[in-house]
Amino acid sequence: MLSGKHILLGITGGIAAYKSVTLLRLLVKRGAEVQVVITPSGKEFITPVTLSALSGKPVICDFFTANTGEWHSHVDLGLWADAMVIAPATACTIAKMAHGVADNMLVTSYLSAKAPVFIAPAMDLDMMAHPSTTRNLELLRSYGNHIIEPAAGELASHLVGKGRMEEPERIVEILDDFFSAGHSLKGKKVLITAGPTYERIDPVRFIGNFSTGKMGYAIADAAARMGADVTVVSGPVSVTPKETGVKVIRVESAKEMCGECLTLFPESDIAIMSAAVADYAPADPRQSKIKRESQEPPVLHLVKNPDIAATLGARKRPGQILVGFALETDNEAENARKKLLSKNLDMIVLNSLRDADAGFGTDTNKITLITASGQTAGFPLKPKSEVAEDIMKAVCRL
Ligand code: C5P
Repeated sequence: MLSGKHILLGITGGIAAYKSVTLLRLLVKRGAEVQVVITPSGKEFITPVTLSALSGKPVICDFFTANTGEWHSHVDLGLWADAMVIAPATACTIAKMAHGVADNMLVTSYLSAKAPVFIAPAMDLDMMAHPSTTRNLELLRSYGNHIIEPAAGELASHLVGKGRMEEPERIVEILDDFFSAGHSLKGKKVLITAGPTYERIDPVRFIGNFSTGKMGYAIADAAARMGADVTVVSGPVSVTPKETGVKVIRVESAKEMCGECLTLFPESDIAIMSAAVADYAPADPRQSKIKRESQEPPVLHLVKNPDIAATLGARKRPGQILVGFALETDNEAENARKKLLSKNLDMIVLNSLRDADAGFGTDTNKITLITASGQTAGFPLKPKSEVAEDIMKAVCRL
């Protein structure tokens, strides 16, 4: 799958740079076209001559070629790449990438890259375990970058711990998997519902829930990064998409959300129902504020809201993919399967309120994916940005 792919290989100044030579050789052997971009300190560890001989291209390090004044365009490099791989990635480069410190060609190319980015950290165990590195890697993950976790073992310092750059063979395998899974949604229209709905009682009060929209917006960002044309129909939330190009239609009630979805669904290839839609709405919302002084506590009469997922499920055409969520407290898998069938979904994302740090308002989630064909896959607790990637990759497989 790597044949003909443009790989921008970033090399930084760490001992593991010697492994980049093998990585470069393996990529070229698989038919990839590789352009090396190296940091000034990277050149202290491995010579550009070796790298250019193996890649068949001059190695880029500086913004200009000193004697000719030729400018190297990081923008062109960023656009040229089908994937950027930074291996080894030192703590310093990771920090610069996380915070946009664009003082060399590697970081400027990274900031201009439109393609997926894979980062293989390599450093001493204490640097790896430092909260600063952990935070910076979290930031990079939240930008949608793929972190190729370092292994534990003997390090250059002779200390033993986590920080060894992943072996080149494995990095090539990860890239190959990425391209063979066809994680591209170019040309696909994706509709996502997100957040809670508010059902008006009177002009100042509503029935709502604790949903913050974080999961839905993370899914929208992940889909956009895969090249999809994304529209979020969103209940009242304070989050916004990170990716430019994600369209947001704001609604308040389940009825409004349903109306927008019915308009968009016929043109959509994929619909992901992550909103926590209120099941009931006040039957008779008041036009003026209900006064406390009014003798007896008022009684709220409720009516059922439309089930948006089920409504779309009933209208689903062959080829359209519909995904729902199930937030359960007991009999999780069984209840999720029932919902999958009754709403005519292709996949359901199950999360349990029994799991700590999963569900409403958290930055992490722990999910199980269940498909209509009966496949089940459980995932560990992860940041919502990564959970969103897992969900979108599974959608691609569907
Ligand atoms: O039946 P339950 O509410 O647990 O189902 C959850 C799934 O159905 C979620 O995907 C949610 O977005 C969707 N749903 C909906 N409209 C409703 C209720 C739930 O789209 N009225």
